[in-house]
Amino acid sequence: MLFDPRPKSRREEIFDRENELNSLIRGIEGYPMTILIGIRRVGKSSLLRVVLSEFEGLGIYLDARRLYAAGGGTISPVVLVDEIKKLLFGKGRFGFLSGIRLENVNLAGIKLKPKEATIIDVLEVLNGLGEKFGKVLLAFDEAQYLRFYGPRGGKDLLAGVAYAYDSLPNLGFVFTGSEVGLLHDFIGIDDYSSPLFGRVYEEVEVKPFPRELSEAFLRAGFGEVGLKVSDEEIKRAVDELDGIPGWLVEFGFNYWKGGSFERAIERTIERARTMIREELLELEKRSSRYSLILRAVAMGLSRWSNIKDYVEAKGGPITNARLSALLKNLEKMGWIKKESGEYKIIDPLVERILRG
Ligand SMILES: Nc1ncnc2c1ncn2[C@@H]1O[C@H](COP(=O)(O)OP(=O)(O)OP(=O)(O)O)[C@@H](O)[C@H]1O
Ligand SMILES: [Mg+2]
Repeated sequence: MLFDPRPKSRREEIFDRENELNSLIRGIEGYPMTILIGIRRVGKSSLLRVVLSEFEGLGIYLDARRLYAAGGGTISPVVLVDEIKKLLFGKGRFGFLSGIRLENVNLAGIKLKPKEATIIDVLEVLNGLGEKFGKVLLAFDEAQYLRFYGPRGGKDLLAGVAYAYDSLPNLGFVFTGSEVGLLHDFIGIDDYSSPLFGRVYEEVEVKPFPRELSEAFLRAGFGEVGLKVSDEEIKRAVDELDGIPGWLVEFGFNYWKGGSFERAIERTIERARTMIREELLELEKRSSRYSLILRAVAMGLSRWSNIKDYVEAKGGPITNARLSALLKNLEKMGWIKKESGEYKIIDPLVERILRG
């Protein structure tokens, strides 16, 4: 059902996204590491799960937020190995396996000793599994939580990934999650000291649906649950919520269950606002200039020089290089886009919140 509020796991449950699914598959086949990016609620987890459910090697889906919780606020090799073992031996709680038929595999021969294991040991064992079963894909959702791996902000895990990238050909990685944390704190997009800096990986971006597709999505969803909704309401909903599937699903679900268009819109916007505010706070923790830039762009200061004037007026001098880097990060994180030299906020809900 399209309006099911949980992440989808099967291709039939997904609306459109053929191209994104294909890019993701090509990334996984062609690169040792793929990063799936896109703004909140756009459908990253769903796409990852669908691709994994069809993956022919051994696909291991891990939710790093759960690993973090299971480890009581840190992720260690013990936690990681423990979870992978549970998945391999059929008692997994936080992830799932796909691909190989595990009943045909003699798992007794697989030794994953958490106590002594380092990340390199773990990855080597998984690479060894790949010799038997084809490629092994380690897919981390909510990957921003991997910064809690070990005492050095996830650097040890990244070093392991970098090692695997160079030396363990059967092993592949996918990372996805909320971009603020993912790009900044874990992978380190502008961090020369990151072990992964400079390595070539594939980046697949999931974008919001364009207008027509958003309307078609709502129509299909309402059709499925047998609710007659006028074109005018469909259009208004897309005006308010834009093309982010998660919000469209939430609105559709609320309307279907509650029966009131207005209330469904209100509730969805309220939820979205709460989530966006939290993210803005996270962003502000990385640099207070991010919010100044976003506010400038939301107010319609779309040109580089106007943004710079605003940021300097409110926050003191900033070098051109620094401002460029911050703008680029905001683009990468899906907050803003640049069209013929003008910056715009991507998500209209974000724009409204920033305008206050
Ligand atoms: N193409 C799609 N077809 C149908 N439903 C979708 C699609 N994309 C996303 N959804 C729905 O939207 C919601 C958000 O999707 P999902 O959790 O996959 O997004 P996400 O990008 O991982 O979100 P988050 O940023 O919260 O992790 C879910 O209810 C999911 O079922
Ligand atoms: Mg997700």
